[in-house]
Amino acid sequence: MTRIAVLTSGGDAPGMNAAIRAVVRTAIGRNWEAYGVEHGYSGLIQGNIRQMGTRDVGEIMQRGGTVLGSARCPEFQTEAGRAKAIANLQALGIEGLVAIGGNGTQTGSNALSEMGFPVMGVASTIDNDLYGSDITIGVDTALNIALEAIDRLKVTASSHHRGFLVEVMGRNCGYLALMAGIAGGAEAVVIPEHDLEPEAVADVIRQSYERGKPHAIVVVAEGARYNAERLNRYFDEHKERLGFDLRTTVLGYVQRGGAPTYADRMLGTRLGSGAVDALAAGRSGLLVGMRKNEITLTPLEEVVAGKKPLDESILRIAGILAQ
Ligand code: F6P
Repeated sequence: MTRIAVLTSGGDAPGMNAAIRAVVRTAIGRNWEAYGVEHGYSGLIQGNIRQMGTRDVGEIMQRGGTVLGSARCPEFQTEAGRAKAIANLQALGIEGLVAIGGNGTQTGSNALSEMGFPVMGVASTIDNDLYGSDITIGVDTALNIALEAIDRLKVTASSHHRGFLVEVMGRNCGYLALMAGIAGGAEAVVIPEHDLEPEAVADVIRQSYERGKPHAIVVVAEGARYNAERLNRYFDEHKERLGFDLRTTVLGYVQRGGAPTYADRMLGTRLGSGAVDALAAGRSGLLVGMRKNEITLTPLEEVVAGKKPLDESILRIAGILAQ
């Protein structure tokens, strides 16, 4: 192998740039040529592929987002789209691809791999819902952004004796909400894996006030059956009976756009360079992830079929510590 390409796809995640930099520089360090694909799989289909040198990835590690751009690409879900992508790579003599992204991205890389093109996936999504890696690129930064918001909301909540619903991202996974809830000292966490009815949330808030707390913070996952909007509507409708004041903040994309933390820069760096090392060793069709602080390689077909379980012991801690 002498020529590889790298792309980022799906939702951007802080630390993707560190991974791009690691892929490009590790490849060049092996005397290979490195190419960058713009806007994920759609750039691959359109042939937006350019050679990258070591200076092209200078001064990017500290930046959030992805310098290559990202996209969600329905055309890549068709075999014709993928065949076009492979033809574009082959026309440039590119023999391997590193695809940095989450579930959608790795479904695409698995499909490409099944068509015979050597691909390595790199585990990246703020949701931390990807099977095959304990932690994914972007999670640490997204959590720190959520924590900063929760800390600030607690200050104003205490001043006014108010309750706050804080909605965090995570798609159908409650990881971000659970971790932000524990580290942010929330009174309750509402996640898809452990739904709380609105009355149960109201009980928690009431009990917090009865114990003398000056505030009540409830962290809600966007994917929960009762997300912030639905909870808010319920609390509004039952305001008189419940007797407390509640405000809602939806953090949304703010969590995705931050400058990567140390942890995400290192994770991106280790996974990106691990992907090139694996290609050099003749491996492909695998996801580079991190398990127990070790680089691991998991077959992409297992990654797309697998479901990452939520750690129940952490859920128990959340309930106990909120007292
Ligand atoms: O997967 C990352 C994520 O930010 C999810 O948390 C969120 O549900 C989704 O992407 C938003 O998708 P889009 O960027 O397509 O709006």
